[in-house]
Amino acid sequence: MKTEKLKTEIQIFICNHKRDHDECCADKGAKELTDKLKKWAKEEHKGEIKVYRSGCLGKCSEGIAIACYPEKKLLLEVEPEDYKEIKQGLKEAL
Ligand code: FES
Repeated sequence: MKTEKLKTEIQIFICNHKRDHDECCADKGAKELTDKLKKWAKEEHKGEIKVYRSGCLGKCSEGIAIACYPEKKLLLEVEPEDYKEIKQGLKEAL
């Protein structure tokens, strides 16, 4: 096994899980939000903020769910329209 220190200061994991017969983040616009945040982070904060598409975070009825590190914070009931507010929060956390 090999370990390496992560260079990224902030990592967020956005649930994109799809459930066929139940409430899920995918049905609430998670892909749209993830794509926009990934593009923004790559263009404006490469090496500082990394955005990942994740599987279920166990908060399906309260999605879209986003796990934020190193803050150890879970954002719930996020909507794609919250994009600007999330960007602002991430910038302030740097
Ligand atoms: S489907 Fe997103 S938290 Fe479960």
